[in-house]
Amino acid sequence: MMTETNSPSGSDAATRTSIDQVSADQADQSLAERGSNRSRQPSNQAFRDFMGAGWGPRPAEPPALLESAPWAAKRREALGALFPGERLVVPAGPLRVRNNDCDYRFRPHSAFAHLAGTGTDFEPDAVLVLEPLTAPGQEVAEGVATHEAVIYFRPRASRSSREFYADTRYGELWVGVRPSIEEVEALTGIRCAHIDSFGDALAKDAGVDGVQLRVIAEADQAVTAQVDQVRQAAGLAAGQEARRVDDRLAEAASELRLRKDPYEVEQMQAAVDATKAGFEELIRSIPRATGHWRGERVLEGAFGAHAREEGNGLGYDTIAAAGNHANTLHWINNDGAVRPGDLVLVDAGVEVDSLYTADVTRTIPVDGRFSPPQRRVYEAVLAAADAAFARANEPGCCFKDVHTAAMEVIAARLEEWGLLPEGVTAADSLAPTGQYHRRWMVHGTSHHLGLDVHDCAQARREMAMDALLEPGMVFTIEPGLYFRADDLKAPEELRGIGVRIEDDVVVREDGRVEYLTAAFPRTADEVEAWVSGLIAHD
Ligand code: GLY
Ligand code: MN
Ligand code: MN
Repeated sequence: MMTETNSPSGSDAATRTSIDQVSADQADQSLAERGSNRSRQPSNQAFRDFMGAGWGPRPAEPPALLESAPWAAKRREALGALFPGERLVVPAGPLRVRNNDCDYRFRPHSAFAHLAGTGTDFEPDAVLVLEPLTAPGQEVAEGVATHEAVIYFRPRASRSSREFYADTRYGELWVGVRPSIEEVEALTGIRCAHIDSFGDALAKDAGVDGVQLRVIAEADQAVTAQVDQVRQAAGLAAGQEARRVDDRLAEAASELRLRKDPYEVEQMQAAVDATKAGFEELIRSIPRATGHWRGERVLEGAFGAHAREEGNGLGYDTIAAAGNHANTLHWINNDGAVRPGDLVLVDAGVEVDSLYTADVTRTIPVDGRFSPPQRRVYEAVLAAADAAFARANEPGCCFKDVHTAAMEVIAARLEEWGLLPEGVTAADSLAPTGQYHRRWMVHGTSHHLGLDVHDCAQARREMAMDALLEPGMVFTIEPGLYFRADDLKAPEELRGIGVRIEDDVVVREDGRVEYLTAAFPRTADEVEAWVSGLIAHD
C-alpha cells in the first residue's frame, strides 16, 4: 500500500506539473501577501484625495487625566528607586495573530498597565521607558526623582494618509479612533514620543561606563531583541547573559504589585461587584441550561455576556463544571449537560476596564437544594475556608499559614470520614511526609490577585509565600474537596461531588483582613436561598 501511494502515476505527475506551473506564475507574490487577495483597495490619486478630505474636526479639548495616573506615578517612582542610573524598558507587547490577518483582542502586558496606569487595549507596540535622570552610580538623595517616564507609541496618522483607510491594523477606519501624542500625554500625565524615535532613545549613552538597560523581556520579543542589539553594540551583557539583569526587573515589577494602592483596591472591589452580578445572570440562565444539550456553555455564555457588557471581559476562562466535571480542576471545555440534582462549580471573574480581575468560585445546586452528601462536603469546605480566614486575621500570619489552616480542617474531616489510610491520623497526614489529604485537594488555598488572576507570579518566595500578610495585599481563599466519580478510595455517595468555595480578601491598613466578596452568599443555606430567589422552581 505504502509503495503504491508513494509512486506517482502518470496522471499524478501531470497534475503536479500543472500545479507547479501555477505556483511559478504566482512566485512574485509571497504567501504572506496573499491574504489581501480577497479584496483590493483603490490606490489611484483621485481616490486618495477624496478619502483624505471632508472629515469633521477632532475633539478640541484634550481628554481628562486618568484617575489612575497619580497612583501609577508613585509606582514608577518606587520601581525607579531600585534601579537608579539605569534605563528601564517596559513594553506593552504586540498584537498576536489568531489566524492569517486576524489578531486576538489586545491586552497589554500587566507590568505596562500597572506602571503606565492605562487599561483596556492601550496600546499595541507601545513601550514605557523609565529614563534615568542621574548618572550611573551617582548617589540619589531620598525624594529626588530618579527617572523620567516616556511612552513611545505609534500615534494616529493623518486622515489624509493611506494608513487611515488602508492599514487594517492601525488605520482608524478599521480599528476605530486612535490617540494622538498630546491626547495620551493628557490622559496619563506621561511625556510621549513617536515609536520611530524609540531606537535612538534606547541607544543614547548606552555602555559599560554609561547607561545600563533592563527590559521586561517576556512582554515583546521584538523590543527585547532591539534592547539586546543596543547592549551588544555598547559592550554590555546581552541575550542569555543579560537574563539575570532582566529577571531582576521582572521580579521587582511583580513584587511592586504585592501591595495594592487604594485605587487598585477600589478597582478590585468593582471587579468583585461586577462578578457577583455576573453570577446572578448565570443563575438566572440555569433553567435554559438544564434544557440544553450542552448546558455548561449556556452558563458560561451568560457570565461572559455580562463580563463584556459591564467590564473589559473575563479575567480568565470561566469554569462552569456540572456534576463530575467539577473534579477536573481546570474544566474550561464546558461542553457538558447540566442536570437537576447535580452541583455546578462556577469559577469566574470579571476583569474591569482598568484590567483588575476578581476570581470567585461558588458551587451551586442546579435545582436549588443540596442533597445531604453534597451539603456534607460543602460544609467541610466552608469550615476550611472559615479557618483560613480566621488565621489570616491572627497577628503574625504568613501567606502560607492561610493554606495550613485550611488543610488542618480538610485533613480532620477526611480522618473523621475514614478516608485517610488505615492508622494515619490527620496530624500524620499534615506532616510533610504524609499529605494523604491532598489527594482530594491538590491545589493551593490562596494566590495573590490583581491585574493578573495569579498576580505577582514572579515575586521571590520570601516576598510571597513566606512573607507576612501586609496592608494592601489582595488574595484568594479557595479550599475545595474533589471526589472523582472513579475514585475508589472515596465512599460511593461522595463520588462525583466536587466543591470549591473561593473568596477574595484584602488586608486593610490596620491589618484586618476583609472579604471583598462579602456580598456573595456563602453558606449552604444562603446559596440555596440565592438560587431560589433568582429562579422560580416548581
Ligand atoms: N480561577 C483560577 C483560580 O482560581 O486560581
Ligand atoms: Mn483562584
Ligand atoms: Mn478561581
